[in-house]
Order: sequence, then structure tokens, then C-alpha cells
Amino acid sequence: MLKATAIAPANIAFIKYWGQKDKDINLPFNNSISMNLDKCLTTTTVEFSKDITKDVVMVNNKTLSDNDSLRVIKQLDTLRKLDKINFKAQVVSINSFPSDAGIASSASSFAALALAGAKALGVKIKINELSCLARLGSGSACRSIPDGFGEWHKGKNHTSSYARSLYRPDWWDLTDIVVIVSNEKKKYSSLSGHASAESSPYFINRLKQLPRRISQVKKALKEKNLPLLGETIEEEAIDLHVIAMTSKPPIFYWNGTTMEIIKQLKNWRSSGLLAYFTIDAGPNLHIICEQKQEKIINKKLKDFPGVIKTIINHPGKGARII
Ligand code: DP6
Repeated sequence: MLKATAIAPANIAFIKYWGQKDKDINLPFNNSISMNLDKCLTTTTVEFSKDITKDVVMVNNKTLSDNDSLRVIKQLDTLRKLDKINFKAQVVSINSFPSDAGIASSASSFAALALAGAKALGVKIKINELSCLARLGSGSACRSIPDGFGEWHKGKNHTSSYARSLYRPDWWDLTDIVVIVSNEKKKYSSLSGHASAESSPYFINRLKQLPRRISQVKKALKEKNLPLLGETIEEEAIDLHVIAMTSKPPIFYWNGTTMEIIKQLKNWRSSGLLAYFTIDAGPNLHIICEQKQEKIINKKLKDFPGVIKTIINHPGKGARII
């Protein structure tokens, strides 16, 4: 039977992927660095069969429309080419967290899909190749393949653009508290953000800052230096949103609660609670702190007006077969 199930984590980018050099194969302008999230997972089963007449994609027990299935079907086509078969497939995916709200559900989904699909077909594939395959579905998905903390090397073409692990999950007792301040499906996909990023006058300036930021994040990871990591990821996240807000057309991802929490973090830090934010393409925040302070910081976040819920994550493993 050509069937397999894989599980893959979402990841939070400390250095972001924003803007595409080649949108057909999701090549980024810059390297990015992330941490896998052990509690934000997608489990995906892929089955290819001659008895299936049409590709069907189910996410969280709902069948996706033909239009919403396009990216998945494109990925299935890539898999079919690898094994030279033309069987249709059924894809069944379950997320452990809200989809489309600024937690990269497509990262975990496309990483799980790439691994389950390759395994179902029995294709022998190296981890770097699997990361490239996941990238074709969604850029950030390539970082959900290797374990722990990873760096996506931007590369020059399809085969050279993939993520590699920098450190295993147990390297540093970090916590990412995902703070949900909106459950709404976001109005602007990351794809539209990537597409308009270059129209911002600040786009080029960010690229100039990145070599310094990347080496600061690497130094912070190596030395387990939270203030250095925190200051760098906040600078980077603000830059992404400045670019989004100054793109044509402008994109505003934050809501009022996002802003209030950003302001509050500064006060908490001056009272000794070391917590820093980063934000992807949505209003929800990722609060980075050390595990020894996570309980008290989580309690404050849960009690914060406008917060719907929080999800505590530790560094996680990459995609694996179950
Ligand atoms: C802001 O194109 O990978 O999260 O397919 O919507 O998950 P989705 O996004 P993708 O872009 C991710 C953009 C980002 C930053 C990042 O994760 O690096």
C-alpha cells in the first residue's frame, strides 16, 4: 500500500524570510534562522492509489475546495514525478493549533506532506532534498524538516536552497509562548506580503542589516545569550512589519492587543522578566523567554486583556514518520 503518515512542527523565525527572489520555487533573498515548535504540529497521512479518481485534501476534518487544494496538488505532482507514477492521492491533515493566524501552519503542513508523500511512494531521499521539496510547497516549510534550531541557506537554485540544523532541540532551554490575540483567518497571506515586499523603500535597507543580525543570532544561540537574541529578533520583526506597512498596497498585520503587549514587555523586562517578542504575518505574538521564567510570563500573558489563549512551546524535533 502506498500510504504513510508524518508529523512535522511549525517553526518560529528569528531571522525572517520576507520577499521572494524566485516565486516559482520559493527562493528567498536571504538566509533565515528558526526554532521548531514542539506543540504546534501537523500530522499528515498521504495515500496514493489507482482506485482514487481525484486528488482530495482534508484539513482538520474538512475537505478543501479545488482552489484551496492547488498548492497541495502541485506538491503531489512533484512527488508523482519523482516516482514516475500517475496515481491520484488522498491527503488527510490535522493541525494541533489554529490555521492561518500567523503561526506558520503551512510550514508544518508542507513539511509533513513532503515527508509522508516521499515515504508513501518509497522514494529514497536525503534530508537536504526533503527540505528542498518542502520548500516548494511553502518556503518556511524547509526549516521544519531538520531538528531543533535551523538555518535556511538561501542558495542559488532549487537544489541549493534548503535548511540545516544548527543545534539539536535540547541545546538551549528556550520557550516560545504563542500568544493568540485573534483567531480570524488573516486577510493577507504571506504570499501577498512576499509579492509586495520589494515595493517598500525599506526593503533594501533590511537586506543590508541582515549579515549583522544573522551573526548576532548565531552568537546568541552559541552563547545562550537571551538579551542578545531578544534584541536582535525584535529589531528583525519590527523591520518585517515596517516593510509590510510601507509596501504598495500597505499591509497591517497587528491589532491593538499586539501593540499593547509589545509595550508591556519592556516594563516586564525592567522588573527582571526576560521576555522578547517576534511576530510573523499576522497579529499573534511569539514571546521568547527561558524555561525557568515561562510559568510566570505565561500567567501574565494569559491574564492580559485581549489575549484569547497561549501555547507554550519548547524547541522541537523536525519532521518524522509515525
Ligand atoms: C512571516 O511563504 O513560508 O512567517 O506559506 O504562509 O506559511 P506561509 O508562509 P511562507 O512565509 C513565511 C513568512 C514569515 C517569516 C518566516 O517564517 O520566515
